[in-house]
Amino acid sequence: MNLSPDQLAQFERDGYLLFPDLFKPQEMKNLLAEVPRIYSEHRPEIVREKDGVTPRTSFAAHTYNPMFAKLAHHPRLVEPIEQVFGEKLYMHQFKINAKAAFDGDVWQWHQDFGTWHRDDGMPEARAMNVALFLEEANEFNGPLMFIPGSHKGGVLNAGHDTKTTSYPLWTIDNPTITRLVERGGIVAPKGRAGSMLMFHCNLVHASGSNLTPWNRTIVYLSLCAVSNHITRDKRPEYIAHRDFTPIEALPDDCLLRDDIIVPLKQAA
Ligand code: SIN
Ligand code: MN
Repeated sequence: MNLSPDQLAQFERDGYLLFPDLFKPQEMKNLLAEVPRIYSEHRPEIVREKDGVTPRTSFAAHTYNPMFAKLAHHPRLVEPIEQVFGEKLYMHQFKINAKAAFDGDVWQWHQDFGTWHRDDGMPEARAMNVALFLEEANEFNGPLMFIPGSHKGGVLNAGHDTKTTSYPLWTIDNPTITRLVERGGIVAPKGRAGSMLMFHCNLVHASGSNLTPWNRTIVYLSLCAVSNHITRDKRPEYIAHRDFTPIEALPDDCLLRDDIIVPLKQAA
């Protein structure tokens, strides 16, 4: 899948691109079927909400789950990002965010590269988030919110918030968000299961809580240019990977085929 000159220009201007219905319903069903088992496990990679029960995120499922291992090599996710950076990529981070029905909590306003730079020593903003909706994200169930154009200001000042949710995050203060929103507004790209979003690692983003009966499961691949690999190992390996092996894409129909198997890095 190649990005057109218009798409590249739009990405440059806004900091994100939405691809509605990029994946087939059956492909999303195959992935979603694995999620309850992943969240039911008690392992450090699973982060729960403040209630200690509701799953919030799961890190690194691609290292131990065969279906997500295939997703980590999916050409529809990997190739456009290779095109943007003009080189091979490795997986910096892989997470499945639950935003669970009724109990899914907020993600405060932040930039991802701020954390990757400060905590992981990632040199440049040459990494990209790819968000794949395993379920519909609508206006009610806590969709991602972006401030278009906010990726252009580089790394913004941030404070380390360890209190608001169960997961510590470098967050941006309200006066800065107010100033950015006055200029760029807020968008919340929505879509059915199978829709994909790519967004710049300096794009300021957040999401509200989920008061609805609908889960909003999204998988995030954080793909980093191999030449831009991290230089610190402060955070656990399952949050900031140290395997800088270039990703080789699988065939386009890999999620529907049983004969394609990716070797796992951890026991299933
Ligand atoms: C994130 O910013 O890492 C997650 C936001 C979300 O899933 O709503
Ligand atoms: Mn983020």
